[in-house]
Amino acid sequence: MRLGLTLLSLAAGLVVAQAAHPFTAVVGGGSTALQNYVAAICDNATQDSNYAGLYLPYYAVGVSTGQNSFLSLDYDYGIGDYPLTDAQAGGAYRPILQIPFVLSSTSIFYNITGNPKLKLSPSVLAQILQGNITTFDDPAILKLNPTLSVPKDQHITVVGRSDSGAAAQIVSDYLSRTAPSDWKLGVNKTLPWPKATHLVMGNGNVTGFINNNTWTIGFADSSGGLKLKITEASIPNQLGTYLTSKQGNYSLSDLGNSTLTLPTSATSSFAKFNTTYLGGNSTYPLISIGYAYSNQDLRQRGDAGAGVKQLLAYFFGPVVLSKGVQDAGLYKPPSSWIKYGVNAIQSITVKSSKVWFQQNSVGPGFSFS
Ligand SMILES: *[C@@H]1O[C@H](CO)[C@@H](O)[C@H](O)[C@H]1NC(C)=O
Ligand SMILES: *[C@@H]1O[C@H](CO)[C@@H](O)[C@H](O)[C@H]1NC(C)=O
Ligand SMILES: *[C@@H]1O[C@H](CO)[C@@H](O)[C@H](O)[C@H]1NC(C)=O
Ligand SMILES: *[C@@H]1O[C@H](CO)[C@@H](O)[C@H](O)[C@H]1NC(C)=O
Ligand SMILES: *[C@@H]1O[C@H](CO)[C@@H](O)[C@H](O)[C@H]1NC(C)=O
Ligand SMILES: *[C@@H]1O[C@H](CO)[C@@H](O)[C@H](O)[C@H]1NC(C)=O
Ligand SMILES: *[C@@H]1O[C@H](CO)[C@@H](O)[C@H](O)[C@H]1NC(C)=O
Ligand SMILES: *[C@@H]1O[C@H](CO)[C@@H](O)[C@H](O)[C@H]1NC(C)=O
Ligand SMILES: *[C@@H]1O[C@H](CO)[C@@H](O)[C@H](O)[C@H]1NC(C)=O
Ligand SMILES: *[C@@H]1O[C@H](CO)[C@@H](O)[C@H](O)[C@H]1NC(C)=O
Repeated sequence: MRLGLTLLSLAAGLVVAQAAHPFTAVVGGGSTALQNYVAAICDNATQDSNYAGLYLPYYAVGVSTGQNSFLSLDYDYGIGDYPLTDAQAGGAYRPILQIPFVLSSTSIFYNITGNPKLKLSPSVLAQILQGNITTFDDPAILKLNPTLSVPKDQHITVVGRSDSGAAAQIVSDYLSRTAPSDWKLGVNKTLPWPKATHLVMGNGNVTGFINNNTWTIGFADSSGGLKLKITEASIPNQLGTYLTSKQGNYSLSDLGNSTLTLPTSATSSFAKFNTTYLGGNSTYPLISIGYAYSNQDLRQRGDAGAGVKQLLAYFFGPVVLSKGVQDAGLYKPPSSWIKYGVNAIQSITVKSSKVWFQQNSVGPGFSFS
């Protein structure tokens, strides 16, 4: 199965790779929200490789497909915006590492003529998404935004996703905790949207639709929308401070005032580890974690095993963390997480002494031997 897929996916790459040289493929896939980031890391890593012939395709197939393809060994590693469930990790019957490697956020995006600022309380946001509030001049919206000037009875078009996504999980989790008596759509990666919702597939179509149409609102991963320069609403954090994702503080000293403690080991359960609605002073409430999933034992994989291990170490390299995260509109993980990640990667066992990268392109303290 693995061989079939790998050869198939290599067929296209072979044409551009130096056909005379042997090549090694390290195949990954999953999250669409983190696609630009991970694909850019792989692109840079390919160029930084000590040898021609390291092939690093990333398939943006969505988190659940990515997780399943990793668990079935079709992919060497998976990428997701949320952890594996305990049933998934336990059902694999092999030690699996879950490595938090980046922080990202979800934003409430809207398009109102004139581009005014917009504050939304959880109750008002819940009612807009559910279709209880249908016009921008609703008294509940104007009460929060006294200077907002919109046409009378201007209809709101809500754009939602028909497919599953981490953004829906995070927003519905937030609303169920902050506006429990208003929010009726449950907590889920797929939401039972009301009939009036304009449904699309994927984060990119949500932000694309808002970018193309006035009087719209929806939510999606922040980085994609901010790249399009659409506008995000401010929403309250636990202390009642209204913030956009860009105004948030992503340092652990701010986030960590709540009980944000990493699991003992990267092979432990991450089911209860998440960053939605943390209690820090300037903490934006819709933060999520990017995870890489890898097998801890890669001794069967030869040079490719060393490739997986070292590519993951490259995720924590200096260019990625100083420039790559910002370019992608994401946030650097706290330094204690970087140490945790590199330690976890170091615990991967391989049976090849091949060194694919330079010491100065991988994470701090990573040892190739
Ligand atoms: C708001 O909309 C939801 C979902 O459409 C519905 O279940 C709920 O009854 C509505 N609430 C009010 C107050 O109309
Ligand atoms: C989440 O949504 C899926 C797909 O609509 C559904 O099968 C599942 O039961 C829902 N889970 C919960 C907890 O509501
Ligand atoms: C947008 O939707 C179309 C059709 O549903 C789909 O083919 C396309 O991949 C989606 N684009 C993005 C960026 O999600
Ligand atoms: C937005 O408009 C452009 C230009 O008309 C179009 O190519 C694109 O598909 C639209 N995007 C969405 C998500 O509707
Ligand atoms: C809002 O939508 C219009 C198209 O109706 C588009 O021209 C404009 O750039 C969009 N504005 C923002 C801030 O997304
Ligand atoms: C974030 O918060 C921490 C702790 O309150 C503070 O030390 C740090 O300067 C803040 N960072 C930014 C960018 O505001
Ligand atoms: C953490 O919480 C304590 C008590 O609520 C408060 O005194 C302290 O300033 C908070 N620290 C940060 C970084 O928010
Ligand atoms: C975060 O964890 C809490 C409980 O620990 C859970 O209710 C919530 O659904 C989780 N959120 C996400 C986005 O996984
Ligand atoms: C608390 O958050 C507000 C709003 O982001 C900010 O202006 C203020 O400086 C923060 N205070 C501390 C102690 O970080
Ligand atoms: C890839 O490398 C370029 C050039 O150094 C850099 O600008 C970019 O931020 C890097 N991207 C990532 C994700 O590391």
